[in-house]
Amino acid sequence: MGYKTTKDPQFAGLSRYDPQALLGQLPTPAYVIDQERLRENGQVLAALARRTGCRVLLAQKAFSNYDFYPLLSQYLAGTEASGLYEARLGREEMPQGEVHVFCGAYRADEFEELLQYADHIVFNSVHQLKAFGPRGRAAGKILGLRVNPECSTQEGHAIYDPCAPGSRMGVTRNVWDREMDRDTLELLDGLHFHTLCEQNSDDLKTTLAAVEEKFGDILPRMKWLNMGGGHHITRPDYDLATLEGCIRRAQQTWGVTVYLEPGEAVALNAGYFVSRVLDVVENGGTQIAILDASAACHMPDVLEMPYQPPILGADTEPGEGHLFRLAGPTCLAGDVVGDYAFETPLAAGDLVLFGDMAIYTTCKNNTFNGMPLPDIWKLDRAGNLTRLTRFGYEDFKLRLGR
Ligand SMILES: Cc1ncc(COP(=O)(O)O)c(C=O)c1O
Repeated sequence: MGYKTTKDPQFAGLSRYDPQALLGQLPTPAYVIDQERLRENGQVLAALARRTGCRVLLAQKAFSNYDFYPLLSQYLAGTEASGLYEARLGREEMPQGEVHVFCGAYRADEFEELLQYADHIVFNSVHQLKAFGPRGRAAGKILGLRVNPECSTQEGHAIYDPCAPGSRMGVTRNVWDREMDRDTLELLDGLHFHTLCEQNSDDLKTTLAAVEEKFGDILPRMKWLNMGGGHHITRPDYDLATLEGCIRRAQQTWGVTVYLEPGEAVALNAGYFVSRVLDVVENGGTQIAILDASAACHMPDVLEMPYQPPILGADTEPGEGHLFRLAGPTCLAGDVVGDYAFETPLAAGDLVLFGDMAIYTTCKNNTFNGMPLPDIWKLDRAGNLTRLTRFGYEDFKLRLGR
């Protein structure tokens, strides 16, 4: 692996700067969103849409820092939401774009309001399509159903596999055949599938073949096919040609408009998380640097996925160098980011710079242990840093009582 440098994609946005000098001025911990990296991702996605005619949406669950929506709206067709609040955010903050929503199950007491925001409403079951579809249709909404092609293409983390056995995500063909009737089918404009997670387009190709095998007879009746998220389109080794082949195949075979709704790919490698070492302790020969940042609170996917995030100047596969375990200051024994080798030994006050921190961070963090929410900063093309938020004690307190 080697020590991460600004030649690595996660830190490439900092290659024009002295990262320590630039980001060392910030109060820590702090998230920094790199506007130019977002723009570059947007350009890749817009070029894909131009070449193929597909429509690309921002899956807000991964990235919903809406100060950047005006920028992203230049490149994307709209937003995708997981429920009422994200749908409202998309409508309010990217009003010129389409608003799509998919939810595992809609609530009767929210559906009316949802109709104010959503253009496309995708259901997760035939029952919910029957229950809510007629109201959606009467309100002029475009309706879809999520299908489950029962084709797992990922290994190792079943919580990210919507096709894992027993998954609640999407209607299998078996259930479709049991529950679908002609009137309900009439309500449908399109099908949706989401099966990938940080994957390349070879897995999409495999999945599309499974979708064709299971639902190929239905698709010619549909106007659109939404291929979900999990496409790591903006990753340097992503095979765009195969993706484009899949899109064209769907367009030509079934005459559908193709939607993609990536989250990660929109904001991939477009953020940093800046923290400092508060203390270094030792246990049985292990040097442990305690940060002013927490895996559990500020980078929850590190524990949930789990994965080990990249750090500038450190190697995630400790061999040579100065070995440190990085951990948070919370009470959770497992609030550990991981073991790293550093070029230079860590000491209290040192800056620790995490990469690829725009996704599933600011939209997923929490204040467990009373940990403050880190502020969010914008890094612009000229190297200016602008503070976008001012979180404090009130943000912690307001979530807990009146
Ligand atoms: C339905 C749906 N669409 C889109 C996404 C975005 O996925 P990603 O951020 O991996 O591209 C997800 C992620 O879970 C999802 O569940």
